[in-house]
Amino acid sequence: MRRCILITGGAGFIGSHVVRLFVNKYPEYDIINLDKLTYAGNLANLKDIEDRPNYSFVKADIADFDTVYALMKERKVDGVIHLAAESHVDRSIKDPFTFARTNVIGTLSLLQAARLYWEECAAEEGAPRRLFYHISTDEVYGSLQMDSPLFKETNKYEPHSPYSASKASSDHFVRSFHDTYGLPTIVTNCSNNYGPYQFPEKLLPLMISNIRDGKNLPVYGKGDNIRDWIYVEDHNRAVWLIVNKGITGEKYNIGGENEWQNIKLLHKVIELTAAATGKSVDEVEKTITYVKDRPGHDKRYAIDCTKIKTKLGWERKMTFEEGLQETVKWYLKNSEWINNILNGNYKQWVEKNYSNR
Ligand code: NAD
Ligand code: TYD
Repeated sequence: MRRCILITGGAGFIGSHVVRLFVNKYPEYDIINLDKLTYAGNLANLKDIEDRPNYSFVKADIADFDTVYALMKERKVDGVIHLAAESHVDRSIKDPFTFARTNVIGTLSLLQAARLYWEECAAEEGAPRRLFYHISTDEVYGSLQMDSPLFKETNKYEPHSPYSASKASSDHFVRSFHDTYGLPTIVTNCSNNYGPYQFPEKLLPLMISNIRDGKNLPVYGKGDNIRDWIYVEDHNRAVWLIVNKGITGEKYNIGGENEWQNIKLLHKVIELTAAATGKSVDEVEKTITYVKDRPGHDKRYAIDCTKIKTKLGWERKMTFEEGLQETVKWYLKNSEWINNILNGNYKQWVEKNYSNR
């Protein structure tokens, strides 16, 4: 029986890496990328695989239950990897409703569609292993003090931003569908990803492109907040392991074991980007601008990923030194990709190609 995996949010940053991995690794599967193409969705992220026979794209909203349910039935979806989300904390502070609609109602709509469809075909002979895999964030756990133990899977949820509150709510809905209806689900909570194709509103691509363009480098508050950074392909390998070996009903933390204070990280990015562009480090350092802090800004995130290491054998492969170097190189080499986002050209393309769908 031909397997079909539905990946949501595949035109975004992490989703595009996941889609590419599954399309390349499983030529015998149908891989569907369902994405609404919001401001963050960019099909240019998938140009290299868009013509593959095992890949198809559907422009749709995960919160549109009828469309999602019809698609699952028609294409006989047996696995869902759910990444579609509104993902930027600053936007969630300005517009929390959009976050509730996509992250909460959208996830609920997908869960319900998968449950109803898989219940209908439960008795089918030779049915493949079904899995609803929800990709979430470490931000659901709240903020750590400097001396707090790292986030474990058993930590209580204590979200502070509307973004993390909406992701926490979606995680709870996923667990409830497992516990109430027996839906085979897995949730993973990952720390800050970095690497190619990240939308330039997030810290690293924003800083690299601002350094390139000689613009100011806005640091929130004192720059002493701490994030744990993981290379997107290390996260991606964890996703692959979860799909193949993860135990349903479980949750797993994923992290880079790589904590950085924002300002120290920025100094590092300046050093690498200045070297690659021939700029003077001292001159670029002068463009650091301390700006008003983000309201409710979480102090520190840090992950204990012992469980996924010991249970599934996952290991981080990329060193931060190398990963950061690669990332800076990628954004500088792919200037056109960033320019098309900054000047809005990528959205005009979507309007031209998808306005009637
Ligand atoms: P992103 O913002 O780059 O991409 C999100 C994608 O979802 C976009 O392609 C967008 O068009 C699509 N989308 C948004 N609303 C939609 C809707 N209603 N219907 C269909 N598609 C919709 O996000 P990302 O950084 O790639 O994050 C992907 C997932 O991973 C999210 O669920 C996020 O919470 C989670 N996550 C991200 C990080 C990180 O550091 N970026 C860390 C941990 C977890
Ligand atoms: P971000 O990339 O938005 O990820 P998240 O808030 O989900 O962790 O921000 C990473 C850190 O960088 C966070 O502490 C906020 C800070 N930050 C700045 O100081 N300046 C900026 O312009 C941005 C976008 C973020």
